[in-house]
Amino acid sequence: MRIVITIGGSIIIKDHNYKKFQDYATVLGDMAAEHQIMVVVGGGRTARDYIGIARDLGASEALCDDIGIEVTRLNARLLITALGGDAYPKVPQNFSQALEFSTSGKIVVMGGTEPAHSTDAVGSILAEFVGAELLLNATSVDGLYDKDPNKYPDAQMIEEITPHDMMEMLSDKEMKAGTYEFLDKTAIQIIGRSRIKTVILNGEHPENLEKAMNKKIGTLIIPNP
Ligand code: UTP
Repeated sequence: MRIVITIGGSIIIKDHNYKKFQDYATVLGDMAAEHQIMVVVGGGRTARDYIGIARDLGASEALCDDIGIEVTRLNARLLITALGGDAYPKVPQNFSQALEFSTSGKIVVMGGTEPAHSTDAVGSILAEFVGAELLLNATSVDGLYDKDPNKYPDAQMIEEITPHDMMEMLSDKEMKAGTYEFLDKTAIQIIGRSRIKTVILNGEHPENLEKAMNKKIGTLIIPNP
């Protein structure tokens, strides 16, 4: 099965050390024995720090985004380093390159592509582009909640939702470099139009990726009726 996995930077580089990269490399290496794995890595705090400095220097939003993209690609290189021989050694800069590199049979790891969206959008476009059967979105909470679980203790996790209903939930969020909510509008639109089976799960525990293959976990995005 062809699987695209997006790993939020807020997960993989949260502690600013090698550990999560190594833990992810172990799980991804196992999964790659049976599946074609393609990974998109986010920028995390490092990206936000760099974007903040660029903004203070008067950079435009698009330039801030471009600097964020560079950071996501650096994180991709760290994951490639952790994966060693299991990974294709180069970070694709676009989707056709990602497809090309995947013909090696190795795990392909990329970061961002163009300004004005998140790595979650990149993951959904990649899933559409390569015809992935499953998109796994590793984030910092257990799944999608009806409100921010870090702010509201009574927030409820949603087990199943359609892209249409997700769009309604996001309709009043602002879009600025470094501040996107997980799964931005672009990502949801792509998931909706291509009816990509998508699971949002807690990426603090990389083994959740394997669990999602045969167990109900996190939030399942089901196609619009
Ligand atoms: P992300 O916001 O996607 O990284 O990229 P992230 O770390 O996964 O996000 P969280 O914290 O885990 O939710 C970092 C920044 O890089 C730019 C955006 O400015 C984004 O906020 N970016 C990334 C792009 O402009 N285009 C891309 O394709 C990817």
